[in-house]
Amino acid sequence: MKKSPQPLSKNLHLIRWVNKMAALCKPAQIQWIDGSPAENDTLCAQLVASGTFIKLNQKKWPGCYLARSDAGDVARVEDRTFICSHSKEAAGPTNNWVNPYEMKKTLRGLFAGCMKGRTMYVLAYSMGPVGSPMSQIGVQLTDSPYVVVNMRIMARIGQKVFDLIDKDFKRVVPCVHSVGAPLKKGQQDVSWPCNPEKYIVHFPETREIWSYGSGYGGNALLGKKCFALRIASAMARDEGWMAEHMLILGVENPEGKKTYVAAAFPSACGKTNFAMLIPPPSFAKKGWKVWTVGDDIAWIKPDAKGRLRAINPEAGFFGVAPGTGNRTNPNAMKALAKNTIFTNVALTDDGGVWWEGMTDTPPAHAIDWQGRDWTPALGKETGVKAAHANSRFTAPALQCPTIDRDWENPEGVPISAFIFGGRRATTMPLVYQAFNWTSGVYTGATMGSEMTAAAAGTLGKVRRDPMAMLPFCGYNMGDYFRHWINMQKGLSETPRIFHVNWFRKDRDGNFIWPGFSENMRVLKWIVDRVRAGGRAQETPIGWVPRYRDIDWEGMDFPPAKFEELQKFDKAAWRTEVLGHEELFLDLHATLPKELMFERELLICRMG
Ligand code: OXD
Ligand code: MN
Repeated sequence: MKKSPQPLSKNLHLIRWVNKMAALCKPAQIQWIDGSPAENDTLCAQLVASGTFIKLNQKKWPGCYLARSDAGDVARVEDRTFICSHSKEAAGPTNNWVNPYEMKKTLRGLFAGCMKGRTMYVLAYSMGPVGSPMSQIGVQLTDSPYVVVNMRIMARIGQKVFDLIDKDFKRVVPCVHSVGAPLKKGQQDVSWPCNPEKYIVHFPETREIWSYGSGYGGNALLGKKCFALRIASAMARDEGWMAEHMLILGVENPEGKKTYVAAAFPSACGKTNFAMLIPPPSFAKKGWKVWTVGDDIAWIKPDAKGRLRAINPEAGFFGVAPGTGNRTNPNAMKALAKNTIFTNVALTDDGGVWWEGMTDTPPAHAIDWQGRDWTPALGKETGVKAAHANSRFTAPALQCPTIDRDWENPEGVPISAFIFGGRRATTMPLVYQAFNWTSGVYTGATMGSEMTAAAAGTLGKVRRDPMAMLPFCGYNMGDYFRHWINMQKGLSETPRIFHVNWFRKDRDGNFIWPGFSENMRVLKWIVDRVRAGGRAQETPIGWVPRYRDIDWEGMDFPPAKFEELQKFDKAAWRTEVLGHEELFLDLHATLPKELMFERELLICRMG
């Protein structure tokens, strides 16, 4: 190994750990990441030279690059994701568990010499604004420069974080990542090194992350799902706060008063679109505005007055590209217009990018995400998509035109409501409000989403995804429900809890609700309920708006259609409650009794 450069931190524990891991992984060299623009330029130039990056047409896409991954490394690998707590019970039945001692042995074997011929980058990062009492710090060792430049967008990185470490600001979460592709002397590298064998491993008690074999997204950008959700959820339970898979947005009313809400939806339910919602013209005219704080993760903590406040621990958006366009989400399109890294989208002939849904008319020719020629005719004929369904943009949050004034407030923003939602063709109304906190926790715990046509044979089957945390909870899901119930006990103001469903269909299979901007009407009702005790009607499942409780100005939506959208279908709810029972059977060992009582109450009300 070449002599390593001067460390950027004076912390002896950190330096010792870096040296220990270097002795195991045997990189050719070590580079401490200072986070400067010059350093980023050099890394991007190296990525272009190595073929990982294609520099896009800088006139049209300033500061933007395209990467194409290996075809076997395109998404999070849930079946290769492990929660290695001290006992299987601590991880719970919804997580993959391996004894931590055994797993450490396996990992030490895998990591031995895994960085040969590569550089080991030492990347210090803060999840949350640097120095905020709600932030946390990690150091990721990685042999992927692609990961470094993505993490630079998704988190706050570099010297300012090493300085915090030197001040002993907080305990550091050590994260080790390797693509698992050592290079022999003189061996030519590939543009996307990875290993078919993948391990995404979390040790919640010792707060460690080890990731091997993948360079993609949540598998490799360890600040995101691994730290900010799986490890942070375990920290949050121990320390009395919450780490949630939630967007945060602020609704500003015509008097200039803001109400912040946090919302959890499973993947592919329009979370980024909702976080960047543009009110319809009739609302905008009156002065309603929606501001974005975050699109994926919320860290939520009671303040000294007992009010929940939330930060977005991330600094960027790692958004799904397909379906994002000027018609569906113009704010996201502006956010990704510069300084953005695209992965697995198509390359256009003028050096730009394209994906399905970006424009109504596709380009006449493009290079698809696997580097092959693509035309709309070929796409139609063979079904081959120009962009991978999970292709992504990594864009700085600050570039979003609706980014909230307080998005980096170190104290966070006050949360007045939680919204849960899923993709449901039947049963679930457009919106309802839970009766109280525990019935709201029940609503979140039992939420589900229909599988899409992609999974053959399961079309329409509801996958239960409690609080959209099924793949992201770092401990036993039953204990997680208990933590939710307990959180309310110390609060001076309890946020109200709502459930929404933008995806209900009529008998002919058409969506009843147009969604997108029109969701503002639902948001307004939610804000009215929270701020001003807005009107509602009681039903067996919760409080619902009547037709006259919604602001319909500028929208022609007949009352009969609204009735269909909001209908409480007793037969469908019987099936629904049986589905809840299935989840509860899996979690019976740790399920809080409050949730069993809530289920009984629901059944009684349905009677
Ligand atoms: C994401 C996800 O990438 O939830 O945000 O899968
Ligand atoms: Mn997510």
